[in-house]
Amino acid sequence: MTELTSFRLNNGVKIPSLGLGTWQLPENPQLVESLAGAIKMGYRYIDTAAIYENETSVGEAIRASGVNREDMFVLSKCWTAHRTYDSVLRAFDDTMKRLRLDYLDCYLIHWPCTKGDPLAWQSVNIGTWRAFERLYEEGVVKSIGVSNFLVHHLVSFLSKANVKPAVNQLEYHPGYRQQKTVQFCQKEGILVQAWSPLGHGALTHVPEIAAIGDAHGKSVTQVILRWCLQNGVLPIMRSRTPEHQRENMAIYDFELTAEEMAAIDALPLMGFSGLEPDHVSF
Ligand SMILES: NC(=O)c1ccc[n+]([C@@H]2O[C@H](COP(=O)([O-])OP(=O)(O)OC[C@H]3O[C@@H](n4cnc5c(N)ncnc54)[C@H](OP(=O)(O)O)[C@@H]3O)[C@@H](O)[C@H]2O)c1
Repeated sequence: MTELTSFRLNNGVKIPSLGLGTWQLPENPQLVESLAGAIKMGYRYIDTAAIYENETSVGEAIRASGVNREDMFVLSKCWTAHRTYDSVLRAFDDTMKRLRLDYLDCYLIHWPCTKGDPLAWQSVNIGTWRAFERLYEEGVVKSIGVSNFLVHHLVSFLSKANVKPAVNQLEYHPGYRQQKTVQFCQKEGILVQAWSPLGHGALTHVPEIAAIGDAHGKSVTQVILRWCLQNGVLPIMRSRTPEHQRENMAIYDFELTAEEMAAIDALPLMGFSGLEPDHVSF
């Protein structure tokens, strides 16, 4: 059995194979307590973003957990409002001040810029990336990547990038698999990370997945997270409930068969957020 407890990014950086998400978790002492508890439980990868407005709590939770900074993997994302070179550098500085950390493990362009002038997005994205490349060269971020980039966004981007993105974070779960983009990234050596791997909670009771779980003594969420790993995709799930957090970590002691993987792949569209990168309003 392959344990799959970590992945290696295309620049050699090691990354824990399960991320803890923080979308829609407002900044407050309860969040600090919940995240610190999860870190003590064993979570080592926290996913945040400037737009989530909780980076201060993420930094506090890491310090409160007592776990060494070097043993954590912290990812944040640059919001769409920051697109010029100087504006990206300022946004990064603000993120680091809120987190109160010396470096970030990964920094992502949150969404491809496709709003407004349909011809401008290619140059806007690569312009943003030049600032990311500078941060990477300075060593204040250990890896850089993108999020919600589809194949057509990536093709033009890769031809101009000096540093290849290490990561593409996408909506990915059994009800929305984005195979074209996933396969493209995997061929290019870009690690796909799954956001909303549980379909924002909508997939936690799918009977076909429950039946597969029964065969292994595992829950629906454990099967989904394991399915991500076996597809070479790193899931970033969100849970505030300690029992769920504990349950969701127990995904390294079983293996789905090829037939079970295929049965999950064959599930119909469900749980899709409706967020299409070329049509979102931000
Ligand atoms: N890059 C992007 O554009 C982007 C977009 C969206 C999200 N993300 C990232 O991806 C993360 C995950 O996505 P998400 O927040 O949409 O959520 P998700 O992980 O797909 O689902 C979270 C929901 O599932 C429930 N859950 C978790 N474990 C469970 C279990 N074992 N049994 C039953 N229910 C369970 C949680 O409830 P409890 O809290 O009660 O456990 C919560 O309601 C985000 O938090 C964010 O960090 C990135």
